[in-house]
Amino acid sequence: MKKLKTGIIGLGLLGNQYLEFFHKREDVEVVAVCDIRRSIAEATAAQHHIDAYSEVKELLATHHPDLIVVATPDHLHQAPTLAAIEAGIPYIILEKPLATTLDEATTIFEKVEQSGVRLFINYANRAMPYDLATYYVLRNHLIGQPVYVESRLDDNISVPTMLWGERSREFAAGSSPTHFLLSHVVDLMHWYFAPARVVEVFAINQMRVLGFTPDLFDAFLTFDNGLKARVKAEWIKHMDQIVEYYTCITGEQGNIIYNKRPGFGVQESWRANLSAPPAEGSLSEHHRRLGEQGIDTRLAYHYRPNTAAYDASTVRASLEHIGSDQANGMMLVGPMLDAICEGTLTPSSWLDRGPLPTHRDGLRQVQVVQAIVDSARLGAPVAVQQQP
Ligand SMILES: NC(=O)c1ccc[n+]([C@@H]2O[C@H](COP(=O)([O-])OP(=O)(O)OC[C@H]3O[C@@H](n4cnc5c(N)ncnc54)[C@H](O)[C@@H]3O)[C@@H](O)[C@H]2O)c1
Repeated sequence: MKKLKTGIIGLGLLGNQYLEFFHKREDVEVVAVCDIRRSIAEATAAQHHIDAYSEVKELLATHHPDLIVVATPDHLHQAPTLAAIEAGIPYIILEKPLATTLDEATTIFEKVEQSGVRLFINYANRAMPYDLATYYVLRNHLIGQPVYVESRLDDNISVPTMLWGERSREFAAGSSPTHFLLSHVVDLMHWYFAPARVVEVFAINQMRVLGFTPDLFDAFLTFDNGLKARVKAEWIKHMDQIVEYYTCITGEQGNIIYNKRPGFGVQESWRANLSAPPAEGSLSEHHRRLGEQGIDTRLAYHYRPNTAAYDASTVRASLEHIGSDQANGMMLVGPMLDAICEGTLTPSSWLDRGPLPTHRDGLRQVQVVQAIVDSARLGAPVAVQQQP
């Protein structure tokens, strides 16, 4: 088997996850690593008997890999990505977000379009069990037309102040809760509800605690199909866990509720509550198909207090996920490697879940995040740029 010669740029938390993940893949050979902190690059390279660089361009010129992974901090994605495009590297996997400014995102987008390079963005949540289950339920219209979404993704205050050691403030100052966290939420919504797109944003933020970056963003999104959503991300939570993640999607015929990273007093859980039997196929058939996709659910029937009396007429069906979300940041990377080997954006391992996320999805996500930032600054609704 021909192995994909691969270089990794940025050897922090994510860069090391890629290294570990690639070592388990027979179709990838990591040939070199690069970090501007030379000692880190050298220590990692020595451990894996590969070459170390502190300059991206040197790595590219010496090895000309088939695949480059860019896992630098949020605000430092542009330079290594453009260097890889200019060097004619055919495949790039870039960590989310595409960029932290619309200008940089547009520049990367245009260079990708002109060069024909294939650039994937690791919006890892798309491959996580609760999100795969959510996608299935929405795409099979089990809760009818979605009308409203509420999603909260918060980090412990230790993330912007301590996660990256002495570099934490610099990382957080170059990013924000909306770039770092809402990038995931916005991308998920574009994936769940495609082809619907966010057209308008009305947001607030708060700047009272951290000082070097916003404390939080809370935004109302309107989609071109009338769907409305409230998305919120915070970086000043004092809580026991690192992340707290809750989403509720209400449709005309039911809703999906998940606690992916549960907060105080809450359990990890995912459930789709249906108001009526599905229009197409029986519920047991959907349950079987979810199982075939490796998504473990069970059928459950619950009383819903939607009448004064708790009698049999209030019993409604649900699908419940069994067990944990068991997520990690590399779950979408396997399908991306399969996509490269199969020469498609819809590899067989990705089933019928639509094309994997590319620079186009990245630009759309940045357009919404930029509108959130602008709206919070202006205190007024902002139209989201729609091109391309
Ligand atoms: N997909 C996910 O779920 C997920 C989760 C966490 C982080 N991320 C993203 O991954 C990216 C990296 O995050 P991290 O937590 O690993 O950051 P990190 O700070 O731990 O690692 C980044 C590394 O890049 C190096 N670096 C900076 N500029 C460089 C350059 N020009 N050339 C080479 N090396 C350079 C830094 O020295 C550092 O070692 C971020 O964009 C982040 O948002 C994604």
